[in-house]
Amino acid sequence: MAVFLVIAFISFPPSVLAESGSGSDDSLDDFVNCTSQMTMAQNSLACHFDEGIAADVKRIQIFFSDSLKRNCVKLSNRTEDGKTFHYVNLNPVSVYNICITLKSKMKLCDHIKLKDIIKPFPPWIANATFVKSINAAEIRIETHYANDYLDRKLVFQVEIRGNGTVQKTDILYQSLRVEGKYLEPNTLYHVRARAKPQGDYFQGFWSDWSDPVAFRTTKLEVPEKGGPNILLYVLIISVVVLLLITIVVVVQWSTEIKASIWPSIPNPKNTLGHMYKKPGKDPVTSFNPEAFRDLPIHSVD
Ligand SMILES: *[C@@H]1O[C@H](CO)[C@@H](O)[C@H](O)[C@H]1NC(C)=O
Ligand SMILES: *[C@@H]1O[C@H](CO)[C@@H](O)[C@H](O)[C@H]1NC(C)=O
Ligand SMILES: *[C@@H]1O[C@H](CO)[C@@H](O)[C@H](O)[C@H]1NC(C)=O
Ligand SMILES: *[C@@H]1O[C@H](CO)[C@@H](O)[C@H](O)[C@H]1NC(C)=O
Repeated sequence: MAVFLVIAFISFPPSVLAESGSGSDDSLDDFVNCTSQMTMAQNSLACHFDEGIAADVKRIQIFFSDSLKRNCVKLSNRTEDGKTFHYVNLNPVSVYNICITLKSKMKLCDHIKLKDIIKPFPPWIANATFVKSINAAEIRIETHYANDYLDRKLVFQVEIRGNGTVQKTDILYQSLRVEGKYLEPNTLYHVRARAKPQGDYFQGFWSDWSDPVAFRTTKLEVPEKGGPNILLYVLIISVVVLLLITIVVVVQWSTEIKASIWPSIPNPKNTLGHMYKKPGKDPVTSFNPEAFRDLPIHSVD
């Protein structure tokens, strides 16, 4: 960093740098990043120093550059690690002149407008739900800016992470529908969002990411060809085979058990039937004199 400062000294003579806002446009950015937050209730500025230079910063001052008096803004404080300065209660439309004095007596100055360096508060995912009936995920984003300066003046970046994939999309509205065809079935997704000013008037940087919110897609509704059908066939065949085995076992069992408990007795009807002769079927045995008519009858001498 020392080398860097020496180079800075050579490139921009201290006399030039000392003059606030006189042509040292880029130099300040090399040392400090300032971002603003704007709401109707509070307008603030935070300036973050590079780690290497933080220890070398002696003083940071901001002035109303559009005021003849060049008032110094008194409300400022420095974080414990010395890397960040905060200014609160600023005027949303003023142009400020910010000057940093280093221990080496070098002074760097730049103009800033709060509306050009806004880093919004992170939004949050109010709702992320997979709706089975429309086969889509519905995501709703909320911000701190309802009815405030930045209401409807933000672009949102939505990131959807799941099963090793990352999908990002930028939207101007606070709700998003992700069609099922862009999602895997039965998968856990994590969605998060960040916001950035967009439009002609407000400009700035991406906010920090919101906390992620999870949703899960449902299982496939339409069964794939082959898979579930084969399963159905296997099931039906199993049931039929089981039924057949049961029948065979039951039949076998009943025959064996019956045979051992009740030995088979021949049907008396059949057995006696052989001994019994029905009348009428045997040759006539009754006496009939006519039957003997042709027989030679010898008179008995
Ligand atoms: C300022 O931000 C830019 C980009 O975000 C970064 O590359 C640079 O290192 C930052 N500088 C400081 C001093 O933090
Ligand atoms: C310093 O600034 C921060 C951020 O605006 C604020 O929360 C904190 O209260 C301030 N501290 C003092 C001592 O003013
Ligand atoms: C979240 O969104 C789903 C789908 O749009 C809706 O059915 C549900 O009621 C919402 N939940 C809340 C807490 O708003
Ligand atoms: C996850 O992705 C891999 C490859 O992209 C795929 O084979 C697998 O089926 C997916 N898992 C789920 C549960 O969708």
